[in-house]
Amino acid sequence: ETLLFTRVSKSTQALPVSIEDWEKQAREILPDGPFDYIAGGSGAEETLAENRRAFSRWAIVPRMMRDVTNRTSAITMFGRKLSAPIFLAPVGMQSIAHRDAELATARAAAAAGVPFVASTVSSTSLEQIAEAMGAAERWFQLYWSNDREVSASMVKRAEAAGYSAIVLTVDTVMLGWKRRDFRNGYSPLREGRGLANYITDPVFCSRLAEVTPENAVEEVLKNIYHPALNWSDIGFLREHTRLPILVKGLLHPDDARLALEHGVDGIIVSNHGGRQMDGAISTLDALPAIAEVVAGSIPVLLDSGVRTGADVVKAIALGANAVLIGRPFLYGLAVAGEQGVSSVLDTLLHEFDVAMALSGSRSVEDLNRSILVRLP
Ligand code: FNR
Repeated sequence: ETLLFTRVSKSTQALPVSIEDWEKQAREILPDGPFDYIAGGSGAEETLAENRRAFSRWAIVPRMMRDVTNRTSAITMFGRKLSAPIFLAPVGMQSIAHRDAELATARAAAAAGVPFVASTVSSTSLEQIAEAMGAAERWFQLYWSNDREVSASMVKRAEAAGYSAIVLTVDTVMLGWKRRDFRNGYSPLREGRGLANYITDPVFCSRLAEVTPENAVEEVLKNIYHPALNWSDIGFLREHTRLPILVKGLLHPDDARLALEHGVDGIIVSNHGGRQMDGAISTLDALPAIAEVVAGSIPVLLDSGVRTGADVVKAIALGANAVLIGRPFLYGLAVAGEQGVSSVLDTLLHEFDVAMALSGSRSVEDLNRSILVRLP
């Protein structure tokens, strides 16, 4: 009742209560270019839609009479205690959504005790983000650079700035084919919005005769897509960091096997929110086979399409240790800055707690396949 009461009184402040509502408001506020860049997917957007459909193909069959008075949504990952199995996914160039950009997101994440994964192509530097987060948990997402000394340099900086894991994104060897962006003639990277980590990087800057925004954009575009990326690059990364290394963007169980063979510390099952390979399998459909290969030996996280507390329950019951959300927090950011991100997180954390209790679980470890059925 207390929860209901506080939420009802909060709702009178007219903040949206669902991701759909946040998205609608963001649609009204943002110009077409940025909105479509955020909301859109690649190709015919089949994977984008499939990511959501996959969640509705599973139903929770809740258990009753299990005394769920004392519950916890806390988990431990890489030896660190986290308040919930929920992360903010790496999202670059957040200044397209709101002028406070990553700093607003970082503050909201820190206040909610939700780890934030900062992107290589952030619109504020990784050091500024770290400063905004104090001692709160943060990871750094790496786009492998064609010049691998630049990657090594960024990883060193992340380590020095208190990031506790490196997430190597592996599904962007080329940019996905984004029709909406063609239609709008929109490219935030070309606009120079993702430069902060590059123009503050000594190795990157040493490669330029003169550091101007134009030169930097050209150099980033040369660096960021790396078709030669392969498993041997993990070895180079390992030589340059003591932090756990996760690979983000795996969908095939054989790739999960290779990840284990190459000593990767964690896997993020992701199709980049349907923004890269259109026609790719949804992440929820890809998860069980990967979880089976990994068999609990390293953490498996999932993103792409997570929108509600029940979605989090389903992903965990199918073998994920945690989930990440992308677009949902960006809509909050676009509409209300830091307060918007806080509100989106607050809603999701509460929804997850309620979903856990109503499904008859006292802890994240309690959630398993026995409470799910796959619908025909
Ligand atoms: C992303 N994503 C992403 N991933 C990454 O590794 N580095 C990045 O810089 C970005 N940038 C980015 C920008 C925008 C606007 C979006 C929407 C997404 C992908 C992101 O980390 C995540 O995989 C998806 O957003 C998850 O799907 P949902 O939650 O958006 O459905």
